[in-house]
Amino acid sequence: DQDQRIAKISSAIRVIPDFPKPGIMFQDITTLLLDTKAFKDTIDLFVERYRDQNISVVAGIEARGFIFGPPIALAIGAKFVPMRKPKKLPGEVISEEYSLEYGTDKIEMHVGAVQAGERALIIDDLIATGGTLCAAIKLLERVGVNVVECACVIELPELKGRERLGDKSLFILVEAE
Ligand code: PRP
Repeated sequence: DQDQRIAKISSAIRVIPDFPKPGIMFQDITTLLLDTKAFKDTIDLFVERYRDQNISVVAGIEARGFIFGPPIALAIGAKFVPMRKPKKLPGEVISEEYSLEYGTDKIEMHVGAVQAGERALIIDDLIATGGTLCAAIKLLERVGVNVVECACVIELPELKGRERLGDKSLFILVEAE
């Protein structure tokens, strides 16, 4: 059943202490991708949730949202839109800045990739502080897209990223310590 699938997904994620710097417990999803059953179950759990919700856009966040987003998009019959780090997209872009622990970062999306009134799902591998997802929501809402939900494989609940999303709903499979 669902709980069993989630338990297997959770145990397929490798945790690497002190990467990329001391004190960070890195959640490594590359080991989940090696487990064909757990990877498929991950995609299936999202597809089961979103298949009947009239979603026309799956927006994936660089880099690991590009791994989970496209198979979900194909399965639910939605287009896939990459939300990229600055200066990667060749066409006209709109961008949204967000704050990091030190300094700021930015994500960008092609103008014309989405139309006002479309229903979107935002996908990433992990929510930490929520800054990235928050910027992605703003970017889509600025062009009139309705963000139905954000979905991540992993949440770090201690960082309270969920609160930063306000009333926007967040769906996750696994909570990490
Ligand atoms: C990680 C993760 C999310 C983001 C979450 O990406 O994949 O995209 O951080 O953090 P937040 O909730 O605090 O905003 P990372 O910055 O490692 O970039 P990468 O995927 O390009 O390596």
